[in-house]
Amino acid sequence: MPQSSTNHNLITMENPKSPISEAYRSLRTNIQFSAIDQNMKVLMVASAKSGEGKTTTVTNLAITYAQEGKSVLLIDADLRKPSLHQVFQLTNRTGLTSALMNQHALPELIRSTSVDNLSVITSGPIPPNPSEILGSQRMLSLLEEFKGMYDVILFDTPPVLAVTDSSIVSSFCDGVILVVLAGKVKKDLVKKAKASLDHVKAKILGVVLNNNTRSKSGEHYYYYYGTRE
Ligand SMILES: Nc1ncnc2c1ncn2[C@@H]1O[C@H](COP(=O)(O)OP(=O)(O)OP(=O)(O)O)[C@@H](O)[C@H]1O
Ligand SMILES: [Mg+2]
Repeated sequence: MPQSSTNHNLITMENPKSPISEAYRSLRTNIQFSAIDQNMKVLMVASAKSGEGKTTTVTNLAITYAQEGKSVLLIDADLRKPSLHQVFQLTNRTGLTSALMNQHALPELIRSTSVDNLSVITSGPIPPNPSEILGSQRMLSLLEEFKGMYDVILFDTPPVLAVTDSSIVSSFCDGVILVVLAGKVKKDLVKKAKASLDHVKAKILGVVLNNNTRSKSGEHYYYYYGTRE
């Protein structure tokens, strides 16, 4: 996926008419077409390793859905190295973990953003046992509640190969988009990540090839979606 020459992650918000934003819109469309008979309501973006572009992709995808008029909830389920609070400049004093620990009522935890139709739940304080709380019954009932409130729910997650959290989240998603940092991450690692997701019967919708090296012209990026290899 290409990215702007500024340091902003929110290209689809800052510059919705750019070709980059158009690429995110075609990703959204491809997701809709990839499973025509199934409702792709709960989605996540995964990658084998850190820094491949999960947060960037899931954030811009969320904005793109919101721009289409869908009510969108973006949840930071990266309880190892959360970042959505930084991306949207929100407090992270409370968030998903507070909801999971029943410490705060949901309306206090769901934050609106500068993007219409887009709400965010930040990670909240980092717990000692992220996998356990993400895999809890409370997480499932919370998700049911969100499904009644939003059209689309997206999760940001840690790398697949680092911890089991991402596989746990994938098990309750309708679809997973795998981001691969082009030319940087070895094929066998990508295969390993795919195997972990397959193991929990995650539905991998396709692959986004991300290239975050900026060329001088700013144009030599490529983007491909839809392979199942
Ligand atoms: N296509 C791109 N072009 C330019 N920069 C990019 C692109 N995609 C991601 N980046 C930048 O690369 C860095 C890592 O991206 P990002 O945070 O989205 O990765 P991540 O997979 O969420 O990482 P982590 O596993 O650490 O959470 C960020 O600084 C982001 O702005
Ligand atoms: Mg991230």
